[in-house]
Amino acid sequence: MNSSDIARSALFAHVEWHDEIDSTNDRALQYARQPDLATPCLIGAERQTAGRGRGNNRWWSGPGALTYSLILDPPENFRRAHLPAVDQSLWPRLSLVAALAWCEVLDQLVPAAQPRLKWPNDVYLSGRKVAGILAEVPPQPAGVPRRLVLGIGINLNNSLASAPPEIRSNATALCDIVGGPVDRQELLLNWMVRFHDNACALADRPNDLAEGWRAYCLLAGELVTLQAGERSIAGRCLGIDDEGALLIDTPEGTERCFGGVLVRRQSLPITGQSS
Ligand code: BTN
Repeated sequence: MNSSDIARSALFAHVEWHDEIDSTNDRALQYARQPDLATPCLIGAERQTAGRGRGNNRWWSGPGALTYSLILDPPENFRRAHLPAVDQSLWPRLSLVAALAWCEVLDQLVPAAQPRLKWPNDVYLSGRKVAGILAEVPPQPAGVPRRLVLGIGINLNNSLASAPPEIRSNATALCDIVGGPVDRQELLLNWMVRFHDNACALADRPNDLAEGWRAYCLLAGELVTLQAGERSIAGRCLGIDDEGALLIDTPEGTERCFGGVLVRRQSLPITGQSS
């Protein structure tokens, strides 16, 4: 991808784009340990040889996919880079913000494909996974501020015609939906603007995020099971609450869930790749 407009934009303090890398998140985790790193720092790659998904999953992406990691910093750096001072207690919600931003970008472009969010941060088009997010907060050496790494993989120009069958059956790519290539650089910039705006809103009015997110909830009203470690929570999905927790209506009452793998009941797990 020609990343020149991205590098020139005032949205990132540092940008690097690799032809090939093991994993942009692994690189980002290394960089995040540098005391003087300029943030927001964007690391992208045309090809990952060891892309990681959530849990122990791998992330497959063919040529034309958009795979990148954004390193974000605590308040001082947010302000320096014209991002809001998002309190650390709100960091887990930034991955929901990032997913919502992609959903909004796609909604502008392909509303008929019904962009949706599967909690916590998977993005779906036409009922299939198009993007996933891996959020990590690495342990830091003494004196280095805590940083957040948001790793995002989105199937843009990587037609799934060449994907392994198990991925093809659950995932989709934007180019297959619009019937041709899309401008990845422009979409990434659009996403960053949305992400910035939504992160500002999160800093100002933390509880408003849920309202935007709920409008896109893939499983609202459906019977679901959340596997959280050894625990299985089954019931009807009620969307998310103001703090971003998944709400499941069970015979014992409403459960607030902060982690786990969500599946639609009476069907296979609705994961595009990993989830
Ligand atoms: C998931 O849905 O399981 C999350 C997938 C995250 C994949 C992205 S691709 C860019 C970044 N680098 C990685 O190794 N993983 C994330």
